[in-house]
Amino acid sequence: MLLTALISRWLVASPFFSIRATESQPKLRLDANNEFHIAIFSDLHYGEEEDGWGITQDVNSTRVMNNILNSEKPDFVVLNGDLITGENTFLTNSTKYLGVVVTPLVEHNVSWASTYGNHDSQYNLSREALYQEEARYALSYTQHSPDGVPAITNYYLLLFPQNTDTPLAVLWFFDSQGGAPFQTTADSESIPNWVEPSIATWFTSEQAVLKTRYKKDLPSLAFVHIPPTAFITVQNNLLPNSGEESAHFPGLNDDVPLAYEGTGWQDVPFMQALVDTPGLHSVYSGHDHGDAWCANWPTGANDTKGVSSPHVCFCKHTSYGGYGNWNRGSRNLRLSFTEDGSMAVDTWVRMENGEIVQSVSLNSTYGTDVYPLEDGENYSV
Ligand SMILES: *[C@@H]1O[C@H](CO)[C@@H](O)[C@H](O)[C@H]1NC(C)=O
Ligand SMILES: *[C@@H]1O[C@H](CO)[C@@H](O)[C@H](O)[C@H]1NC(C)=O
Ligand SMILES: *[C@@H]1O[C@H](CO)[C@@H](O)[C@H](O)[C@H]1NC(C)=O
Ligand SMILES: *[C@@H]1O[C@H](CO)[C@@H](O)[C@H](O)[C@H]1NC(C)=O
Ligand SMILES: *[C@@H]1O[C@H](CO)[C@@H](O)[C@H](O)[C@H]1NC(C)=O
Ligand SMILES: *[C@@H]1O[C@H](CO)[C@@H](O)[C@H](O)[C@H]1NC(C)=O
Repeated sequence: MLLTALISRWLVASPFFSIRATESQPKLRLDANNEFHIAIFSDLHYGEEEDGWGITQDVNSTRVMNNILNSEKPDFVVLNGDLITGENTFLTNSTKYLGVVVTPLVEHNVSWASTYGNHDSQYNLSREALYQEEARYALSYTQHSPDGVPAITNYYLLLFPQNTDTPLAVLWFFDSQGGAPFQTTADSESIPNWVEPSIATWFTSEQAVLKTRYKKDLPSLAFVHIPPTAFITVQNNLLPNSGEESAHFPGLNDDVPLAYEGTGWQDVPFMQALVDTPGLHSVYSGHDHGDAWCANWPTGANDTKGVSSPHVCFCKHTSYGGYGNWNRGSRNLRLSFTEDGSMAVDTWVRMENGEIVQSVSLNSTYGTDVYPLEDGENYSV
């Protein structure tokens, strides 16, 4: 027993094994109420100015995560990109920041999965080495793109009920790339910042594999750091002006215009794959620190009454690192399953000070349901 445990620990921890043995990890399972609670920590940006304010900034970000883990007690955490600000870190220890980032998760014994962002690839920070560092943690469910699929964080995880090994839902993770190549030319920022069409092809073919294996389309969620272009269409057509909250689509809307993948066309195959995915409930992005709303996919141009899927949601900037001084928090998701396997999703933002704001049900009437406008510092600052 002990020897087996030691060997499997070594397999997980060894830098010589690049493919995670997720099969050896416990399956992700719903709780006794058939629910699964995810907290999203987005844009953590550790490692800025390590001889000055960056140190306190990271201490502050760790405090935010600890507060949220204490109040929300999530089943699982998603780190949705820009874990580290690679522009500021050193060649000698750039991936060591991962250990600082995940300390609250390790201390709370909460497992997690990551997408990587544009700041996670820089002259001194290798995306591949960051993955290898993450793979040392038994609590990390982050996986590497399969052979032939570009970038790193393209994978999926299955969610299971308490007592059977037939999955109920899929969590998809996509790599929107961006940033600068490792040790090539400083500040080149030459990596494409979108989900490649070949990743969309892989996504579509994996769905077919899952459908054949489980004989149905499982409900699913998707996480990707840089928002697809659909997000700017939503912002242009469905949301009020900068800084105003919408009663239909509540949440901070203060990054206007928001930054999205590529220049508006490179991610079309990815977006097509998203809208073509039966059961895909919602897509969660970070990158724009001043946006924290959820809306509907913009099919009917500016038709706010459209019941369109998937829903599109910004996470909430969690850290003191990266640009912007909006109050910090975390988007939380509660996935609830019925006996027949259908999934409902409620979401809210838990602020650093413990308040809950913008609590909504992402159901079929989202977009026509009217939510109270929030005011006060949690919304606007
Ligand atoms: C750390 O957090 C405190 C309390 O919110 C804030 O006053 C301070 O400016 C923060 N420091 C940095 C460097 O972000
Ligand atoms: C890379 O790291 C080295 C030290 O390890 C540092 O001297 C250099 O300024 C860093 N360069 C960039 C572009 O981050
Ligand atoms: C990385 O090295 C720098 C410079 O020596 C140091 O200030 C910083 O604390 C180190 N960071 C980590 C996470 O080891
Ligand atoms: C951590 O969580 C796992 C699974 O939820 C559990 O089996 C294990 O006992 C926990 N470890 C500690 C130290 O609490
Ligand atoms: C609403 O949609 C119509 C038709 O697509 C378009 O002409 C108009 O500019 C849109 N208005 C807004 C405010 O986006
Ligand atoms: C969706 O959720 C809202 C808020 O909880 C609720 O008012 C509305 O009735 C729900 N719609 C449906 C179709 O259940």
